[in-house]
Amino acid sequence: MKIGVIGTGITKFGELWDKSLRDLLAEAQLKSIEDSKISPKDIEMIFTGNMCADALSGQLHIGAMASENLRINVPSTRIESACASGAVALRQGLQAIESGAAKIVQVNGVEKMTDVSTEQVTTALMGAGDEEVEGFQGATFPALYALMARAYMHEFGLTREQLSAVSVKSHKHGSMNPIAQFQKEITVDDVANSAMVSDPLTLLDCSPITDGAASIILASESVAKKLNPEAVWIAGSQQATDTLALSARDSLTEIKATRIAADSAFKQAGISAKDVHLAEVHDCFSIAELLAIEGLGLAKKGEAGKHAAAGYHYFDSKIPINTCGGLKSCGHPIGATGVKQAVEVVHQLQQKAGKRQVKKAEVGVTQNVGGTGATVVVNVFKR
Ligand code: COA
Repeated sequence: MKIGVIGTGITKFGELWDKSLRDLLAEAQLKSIEDSKISPKDIEMIFTGNMCADALSGQLHIGAMASENLRINVPSTRIESACASGAVALRQGLQAIESGAAKIVQVNGVEKMTDVSTEQVTTALMGAGDEEVEGFQGATFPALYALMARAYMHEFGLTREQLSAVSVKSHKHGSMNPIAQFQKEITVDDVANSAMVSDPLTLLDCSPITDGAASIILASESVAKKLNPEAVWIAGSQQATDTLALSARDSLTEIKATRIAADSAFKQAGISAKDVHLAEVHDCFSIAELLAIEGLGLAKKGEAGKHAAAGYHYFDSKIPINTCGGLKSCGHPIGATGVKQAVEVVHQLQQKAGKRQVKKAEVGVTQNVGGTGATVVVNVFKR
């Protein structure tokens, strides 16, 4: 598999009260087109990841909105796979090119979340869980990930300090990213002492509620080579699923779908975990980053907490993780996150990541999770 990313576009992430869902989507779309030096009429298909526009903005039919924004009439589809909507949209784009149905595809992700109350957002997000077994019983995503954190602490002796180190590193990277929602550094004590959300997860263990959009342009190998000598290649892309409800899983201390998707994406790309120079992983809560690192094979089971505390994952350390600031500090506009991860890895591989540039960046990986691990997409990018 060799499909090129020939352009990227991203908006500021945060509480963007002066920008509507449509404004955000259009801004990212136009930026990726400008970056690719193509014209909107070159785009043959559009896929847009979005989870909550109906619940939070009263808007469905995002596919048609995306093509209208470009004043073109091509097939344009909204993809919903909870927090993995962006990466699943990306996979639809890859498959459209692989099947020969299109040579140039635009993939977007967008979410507008801050115009309503936290309660409304929490309820909407819970649609990604199992309504009968979890949502109806009062579970929320912070509560479900808190169960995973507790189980992990019990099984592997993870300490409060080790868990806090994840968020400290994310905020450090966020402080170097001009589009991040939070650009302020924090300390381990700040994490432990911030408001309790769902024990043991505090406010600073949680990703925030965010507005934002991201976009990339994919092209077939021959077209990408012609259009952009700096194109970054997607060499592997796989998706796996697991039960909707956490209670039906074999283990609370691993996200099995990450391992399944990673094994086959790495095989497809002809790499192993030791070849990975950097990764953008789905740290919707600090514990999720540790589970992602282990699922990708970048740490042995039970060891990711020690690595976090030892500082292995800073942009200038052993295995840089979430150099954009991750979901925690860059923000988590649900449908945009999977596409944003791709934008960050592409920038890193093109040596365009500014202050947070990773020195050796030739192979980068993204891991995007829906729910508590019911959908996972792993992509492998190469220079
Ligand atoms: N990290 C850091 N700071 C945060 C934050 C976060 N996750 N969430 C809010 N804040 C800050 C706000 O900027 C605000 O700061 P200010 O007083 O300086 O302006 C303050 O904390 C209070 O913000 P508020 O919006 O009132 O917080 P809240 O209590 O309504 O929401 C959470 C906090 C953690 C409940 C909310 O961010 C949340 O639900 N996060 C998880 C989202 C989620 O589940 N995503 C899907 C994952 S699968």
